[in-house]
Amino acid sequence: MLIRNARLATPQGIYEVDILVEQGKISKIGKDIQTVGNQTVDASEYLVIPAAIDGHTHFHSRFLGAKEPIPTADDYSSGSEVALAGGITTYVNFIETSNMKEEIDLAKSTSKADFSFHLIVKNQKDIETIDEAFKLGVRSVKVFMAYRGSMMLSDDEIISAAEKVKKLNGVLAVHAENGDIIEYLRSKYGDKKEAIYHAITRPIETEEEAVNRFSAITYFTGVKSYVVHVSSPNSLDIIDNWRVKGNNIWAETCPHYLVFDTSFYERKDGYRFIMSPPLRDKEYVLSLLKKLEKVYTIGSDYSGYLSKYKDEVESYAEVPNGVASTEFLVPTVYTLALRGYTTIEHAVEMTSVNPAKLYGMVDKGFGIGKDADLVFLKKEKYRVKDWHGKMDHSIYEGVEFDVKVYKTYLRGELVYEDGEIKGGKGLQVNRIHDDGKVF
Ligand code: URP
Ligand code: ZN
Ligand code: ZN
Repeated sequence: MLIRNARLATPQGIYEVDILVEQGKISKIGKDIQTVGNQTVDASEYLVIPAAIDGHTHFHSRFLGAKEPIPTADDYSSGSEVALAGGITTYVNFIETSNMKEEIDLAKSTSKADFSFHLIVKNQKDIETIDEAFKLGVRSVKVFMAYRGSMMLSDDEIISAAEKVKKLNGVLAVHAENGDIIEYLRSKYGDKKEAIYHAITRPIETEEEAVNRFSAITYFTGVKSYVVHVSSPNSLDIIDNWRVKGNNIWAETCPHYLVFDTSFYERKDGYRFIMSPPLRDKEYVLSLLKKLEKVYTIGSDYSGYLSKYKDEVESYAEVPNGVASTEFLVPTVYTLALRGYTTIEHAVEMTSVNPAKLYGMVDKGFGIGKDADLVFLKKEKYRVKDWHGKMDHSIYEGVEFDVKVYKTYLRGELVYEDGEIKGGKGLQVNRIHDDGKVF
């Protein structure tokens, strides 16, 4: 396939070029490429971007922080359709130690987008399964500093996980919130039930403290790491300061922290917007937007739960945590770029090039020889009315974007066009880490 007249966004700038795709890979980028027998696609109406890699999804998952496990709405099949419709060709999903092999096999047989996995470790016993997970192609592990009683690890246990991951040349991810302070605040506010108490009992300082503590652990253990779903601008500074000292630590944020604020918890349907860390006050959202250059990757943290699970609970403390941002990740980031909050170059880095580096995805990201995972965007204003997948509500309903995803190509194959999923057979992504080992 030859893509003609593309305005191609790259980490170095936007170039008017042709892109030659052979055997699913980008084989040539240049002016007026001449070929014989190739299907030609005219891209002159579009901005062509490297497809996004969403490093944070919970498809076919369950909320572990509640008394009863509650299922997420989308599985690998519908979740991957959501991804493709949003200009995402690769996602990294969280799995638990109990059914790693089954989940990987299920994704292999049903996912329409490419995929990989992070392992969630919830206790010392789980830490002992990290070797096994790495043999299955997993190269990243997530630990929790919150959700006391179900997933929270002690510092000692995090050190032990960090040592293990370091030895295997993987990457350690953290959910950074101080679980003990959150439990203290929850008991202090006793019988309060309203959604706003979710934010009141998880103040921004509980995130910042945990980010700093985790950074110290990773600094002294020397493991490569990142903090998922950063919602505090101050957390970005803390992570930056530790990296200046020599720590190989990075920050991921999510689209919802860049678009919404705590006013959503004052709404009647406020439970629907509960996720952890919570949405922050407007001043923090603005300050986070001003620090986007310190964000390394953007993950959607897809944790979509049907409205019946979100609405029919007695208190904020029982709501399954999460929203479904996947389809709106690319529109959010590129709209912010058009509105001057970041550059197109950094949008490409945060959504594609940096996640490929962080997760060691040798065939992904952007450049000659990489998978031809490309997305055609159009500058177009629209309000969100609908979405793909099985969710029956969305925090993005009514949000105005300036950028729309028109076509998504996965390894050179058109898999999404103008609202419609065209196909796609997802493969488990090869991952290599700093030791050079490929899985
Ligand atoms: O609220 C969230 N983020 N739910 C998903 C689980 C997690 O902590 O990533
Ligand atoms: Zn988390
Ligand atoms: Zn998550």
